[in-house]
Amino acid sequence: MTLKYLILLHTLCACIWVGGHLVLALSVLPKALKKKEPEIVREFESHYERVGIPALLLQVVTGVMIAVIYMPVSEWFTFQDRVHTHIGIKLILLFVTFALAVHARLFIIPKLSRHNLALLAWHIAAVTAIAVLMLFIGLNFRLAII
Ligand code: HEM
Repeated sequence: MTLKYLILLHTLCACIWVGGHLVLALSVLPKALKKKEPEIVREFESHYERVGIPALLLQVVTGVMIAVIYMPVSEWFTFQDRVHTHIGIKLILLFVTFALAVHARLFIIPKLSRHNLALLAWHIAAVTAIAVLMLFIGLNFRLAII
């Protein structure tokens, strides 16, 4: 598959991952916090997960395939120039996203109630902020905004 088709798929998945999290963080979550009803978040996630998780997986697969086109895996964390730094930062942010997701899945979601909803809200805010940052870093690769 050529680079341009990989970028097309990568960008489509970014729309789903980032867009879904913005809807969750800015619309669904405030409503759940106001009403103190974790079910509102659970209901959204049960629908979103079916599309959002495959999108993130495809995002990672296409991201890795694109990164391999630019450089060998042994150079991914060398931060030796602009291109290497972009890929290194993206991978670190991806690991942070996974760490937050695993922590929420294992320690918060199993006993989700009105009492620990605020803790889940912090996780959602962090994952959303990281998703937007990854989108910006992705665009910055070609556009050199900063
Ligand atoms: C949620 C995670 C991610 C989001 C939201 C995201 C988003 C984006 C976006 C919007 C672009 C711009 C495409 C363009 O206009 O050229 C991009 C490019 C890129 N992404 Fe990601 N990305 C994510 C994960 C990853 C991962 C895990 C990698 C693997 C290292 C990666 C590697 C790249 C590379 C190398 C480019 C530059 C492609 C090019 O312009 O030639 N991305 N990303």
